Amino acid sequence: MDSLQSETPRAARFARYIKARRFDPPRPLLIKAAALPDRKEHALDIGAGALNATKYLLSSGFEHVTALDAAPRAQEAARELPRDQVTFVLSRFEEFHFPANRYDLVNAEFSLPFMNRSDFAPTFTALLRSVKPGGIFSGQLFGPNDSWNVENSGMSFHTRAEAEAFFRDFELAHFEEEDHPGTTKLGEPKHWHIFHIIAKKPAGEPR
Ligand SMILES: C[S@@+](CC[C@H](N)C(=O)[O-])C[C@H]1O[C@@H](n2cnc3c(N)ncnc32)[C@H](O)[C@@H]1O
Repeated sequence: MDSLQSETPRAARFARYIKARRFDPPRPLLIKAAALPDRKEHALDIGAGALNATKYLLSSGFEHVTALDAAPRAQEAARELPRDQVTFVLSRFEEFHFPANRYDLVNAEFSLPFMNRSDFAPTFTALLRSVKPGGIFSGQLFGPNDSWNVENSGMSFHTRAEAEAFFRDFELAHFEEEDHPGTTKLGEPKHWHIFHIIAKKPAGEPR
């Protein structure tokens, strides 16, 4: 993917997706996750898109949300939200400096699989380190049966064992696998292989 995704077909697709998602309600996984952290001071919404999750996190009591996305359309959506409560960062995930032990919740809804395989592990490891003790990770990884898993996809797919291994220092609160034909938000047929994950970093010494 090109820097800031301004001209690529994938960037154009994300722009259409963000438009289509604009008025969607929060997903059940996020609703469940938002109730679980020990505190609600600061959340990170990574791949924030139309900012649906950012808005939900604010309404569910988070004091501040940092929303991160490389799409200019996401930045436009962020302008409608209160500046004292939302910080928007226009950046690729791979280039973001994840502060250690900073967030009470990190939400990554259908966003991390869009990184390529070589960037995935270092970026995801830094992301998990940014969760505070007592904090929550919530989001999706994609499995190998997903129909977007083709040569040169520029995306990342993980087996169930690989997905679980990332969370060896966390307590899994929810781990659900979907593996079936369906359609995309933009109406195309697609085989989905998804892991829906909520994990809590144990309270205690920061890792
Ligand atoms: C499928 S959309 C999901 C958006 C939102 N989380 C939702 O569930 O509606 C993926 C989002 O991640 C962003 N994205 C994908 N890859 C990215 C990367 N490497 N760095 C930053 N943003 C990225 C896209 O711009 C897009 O807004």
